[in-house]
Amino acid sequence: MESPFKPEILKGKVALLTGGASGIGFEISTQFGKHGASIAVMGRRKTVVDSAVSSLQSLGIPAVGFAGDVRKQEDAKRVIESTVKHFGKLDILVNSAAGNFLVSPEDLSPNGFKTVMDIDSVGTFTMCHEAINYLKKGGPGRSSDDSGGIILNISATLHYTATWYQIHVAAAKAAVDAITRNLALEWGTDYDIRVNGIAPGPIGDTAGVRKLGPAEIKSGTREIMPLFKLGEKWDIAVAAVYLASDAGKFVNGTTLVVDGGQWLSGPRHMPKEEVKMLSRVVEKRARVAPTGVPSSKL
Ligand code: COA
Repeated sequence: MESPFKPEILKGKVALLTGGASGIGFEISTQFGKHGASIAVMGRRKTVVDSAVSSLQSLGIPAVGFAGDVRKQEDAKRVIESTVKHFGKLDILVNSAAGNFLVSPEDLSPNGFKTVMDIDSVGTFTMCHEAINYLKKGGPGRSSDDSGGIILNISATLHYTATWYQIHVAAAKAAVDAITRNLALEWGTDYDIRVNGIAPGPIGDTAGVRKLGPAEIKSGTREIMPLFKLGEKWDIAVAAVYLASDAGKFVNGTTLVVDGGQWLSGPRHMPKEEVKMLSRVVEKRARVAPTGVPSSKL
């Protein structure tokens, strides 16, 4: 789909995306690049990173890739420093690397729980921690009239209620949202850095839906999906463009839910016609006072 934003909305910006070589992360890389940003992608698999960089470059987007694991502080430091060395500065950090699998709590080992916490929550914090010097107002490579940089954390809606077989990811994303809010407060105040999140719903053609989505979601049942369709990676990417651009300059500390209203929904417990009828009967009864005197006579 064509973007509703001007193509130069991120012109001159340098963005580093963890998990930026595949899935939603890659679509954000692409849309950021199409809107003028230079892109660095970080991922665990070198072949995936290399192929993402080639695809971005074939679109005319300045791009570079680094293999690395967000669980390793030395990798985070090296990739951030290499990005700045390559492009001269860092404006936008997107934390999109995530681990996930379905498992019931009793079958999940503490190490399995910790693995997802380490990737999603600790990994997000580690990247932010290593990037702060470059993102803060007046940091290396930033001109004196530049504001501070931007952090975007990719979250989820799993933990708003509770989600079957996702205890580890729900806990990890709850921590991510807390990181988003705390950094928005503390680094917004001290360093002029805006920190926001995006919570995608079920997005078609992603590992998330292929691996995790129940059949009702895959087939788009209206009962649990108000808009009756899966989202597209594009929906998340343009939300990211909005938050990373000056269009979002007063948005700080929020996690934008982009899920078509899915997390709010549950099966309709009664057909609409039945509600109307029942409601009339109940209302008539209510208008008759317990004494038997119709309310119109009271
Ligand atoms: N069910 C239960 N436990 C699992 C599991 C599964 N499907 N996958 C991993 N674990 C547990 C392992 O058993 C291990 O715990 P143990 O040592 O107590 O046995 C722990 O998690 C670490 O597993 P390991 O395979 O060593 O971790 P890893 O670092 O190689 O990768 C993931 C783990 C989660 C990152 C891996 O599943 C992955 O790469 N997923 C792809 C990312 C993804 O799906 N992204 C989409 C996000 S929506």
